[in-house]
Amino acid sequence: MLKIGLYCYLSKKVVIFMNKTKLIIMFVALICLGMGGFFMMIGAGYGSEPGKHANGKIKLPEPKYESDTSVEKALLERRSVRRYKDEPLTLGEVSQLLWAAQGITGQRWGFKTAPSAGALYPLELYVLVGNVDGIARGVYKYVPRGHELLKVIDEDLRDSLAVAALRQSCVRDGAIDLVFTAVYERTTGKYGDRGIRYVYMEVGHAAENVCLQAVSLGLGTVVVGAFRDEEVKKVLSLPKEESPLCIMPIGRI
Ligand SMILES: Cc1cc2nc3c(=O)[nH]c(=O)nc-3n(C[C@H](O)[C@H](O)[C@H](O)COP(=O)(O)O)c2cc1C
Repeated sequence: MLKIGLYCYLSKKVVIFMNKTKLIIMFVALICLGMGGFFMMIGAGYGSEPGKHANGKIKLPEPKYESDTSVEKALLERRSVRRYKDEPLTLGEVSQLLWAAQGITGQRWGFKTAPSAGALYPLELYVLVGNVDGIARGVYKYVPRGHELLKVIDEDLRDSLAVAALRQSCVRDGAIDLVFTAVYERTTGKYGDRGIRYVYMEVGHAAENVCLQAVSLGLGTVVVGAFRDEEVKKVLSLPKEESPLCIMPIGRI
């Protein structure tokens, strides 16, 4: 009798213990799921997007990989152009320019059109859309993976950007303005201070790609480096880890 009583008592304790353990496991699993979701969102870039967010993502048309303009001809004809016609660009042209700047050309590892020290890709790319058929005015972030545009600000901010760029009229008059920014830590994290120069070199590569692509499309552009950093950051509501490096207005000539 005593044995049976003890057995029942222990069985009860085991069941209570098991139930408690189950509850704890479920609780921990729920916390892990929640944290997993949070970090996935950050990993997908939601944590570092600037400005006001709208849901609209624009899928850009597939870029063309051939043209009648040779690299040699584009190099020969490239010139800084600061005056543009008041005419719209097409969605295809914007797609081509963004692809030339930072498009992904090696799907497996995410390699891009421009070389990058350690393949760390510190650059981010914004487009201020003012006059493009098929894209509403506003500020967009280029998403290389998927070749898409993500709207980050609803307003046409070319005028404000031109003011920040020491009132250079080309920045106001471009049908679009590209703005390259950099997250230095991506590169300095591996290369230390030397990484700074790597980032500068990289933006030069990407900008030259845009220059040559513009020639091939019959468009005009210029590299603009003269601007007040803090003002550009403010105009574009950039996340604090991003620094603006170069503006490229682009328009019809
Ligand atoms: C880093 C850098 C910054 C520049 N900044 C400006 C600028 O703020 N405004 C401008 O009109 N041109 C700017 N330029 C363009 C140069 O003035 C131009 O490249 C130079 O006059 C040579 O002319 P080309 O590009 O037609 O060969 C810049 C060029 C570079 C490489």
